Amino acid sequence: MEEKEKQIRLDKYICKAAGLTRSDARKQIKAGRVTVDGSPEKKPDRKVSPQARVSLDGKTLGYQEYIYLMLHKPQGVVSATEDDRDRTVLDLIDRPDPDLFPVGRLDKDTEGLLLITNDGALAHRLLSPRRHVDKTYFARLDGPVGDKEIEAFRQGLDIGEKKRTMPAKLEPLEENDVRITIREGKFHQVKRMAHKVGREVLYLKRLSMGPLVLDETLKPGGYRELTGEELANLLEAAGTKTNGERTKPE
Ligand code: URA
Repeated sequence: MEEKEKQIRLDKYICKAAGLTRSDARKQIKAGRVTVDGSPEKKPDRKVSPQARVSLDGKTLGYQEYIYLMLHKPQGVVSATEDDRDRTVLDLIDRPDPDLFPVGRLDKDTEGLLLITNDGALAHRLLSPRRHVDKTYFARLDGPVGDKEIEAFRQGLDIGEKKRTMPAKLEPLEENDVRITIREGKFHQVKRMAHKVGREVLYLKRLSMGPLVLDETLKPGGYRELTGEELANLLEAAGTKTNGERTKPE
């Protein structure tokens, strides 16, 4: 069966394609500055096809329903959409799309890979504990670890939750540096696991989430769109090939 094309309101189209707030988008439309397929359009609630040729002040806009950004989260900002006290990861994004949000949370003092998107279905799949998407971190500890700690991570640890954590990988690097791979995303999970084996985390950076690897050319605070290949691999890891695909709750 042929899928019915999803139409969108003109104000939403302008808002996303031109990076305007919804109320600014409406103002532009009402002021007669917008055309749809060459004809002026003053109704913000007019439905348009995502393929329509929409122009603002004569300039054709490109509409992208789903946005996928790789952010190198710096320390000192919180992984939230808004916060009364601290700057959030969205304050770093120069695009006021009201639907963007971070996929999962990194602590305020953790840096590294954070996916920012408006694709709620993909986020849900990536965060589902059933899907077991690996997250890899670089950590600097306050002392060395050896076989005993590696084995404890491999077995999964009791960090005070109902169940032990899933098996995790602890790989010593130079001096007190380690690489840690976990499959869940419990609150402060890496720090609590390290604490459980008698070590504290002095510095933490997320390197990857499933197939998505932090682009080290991005400085802390920098971000870029995912490449087509990165997105395809991420969708596959999430068990879907389609952006925005809704599924039954897992
Ligand atoms: N584990 C932590 O303890 N903190 C993070 O930010 C991410 C994983």
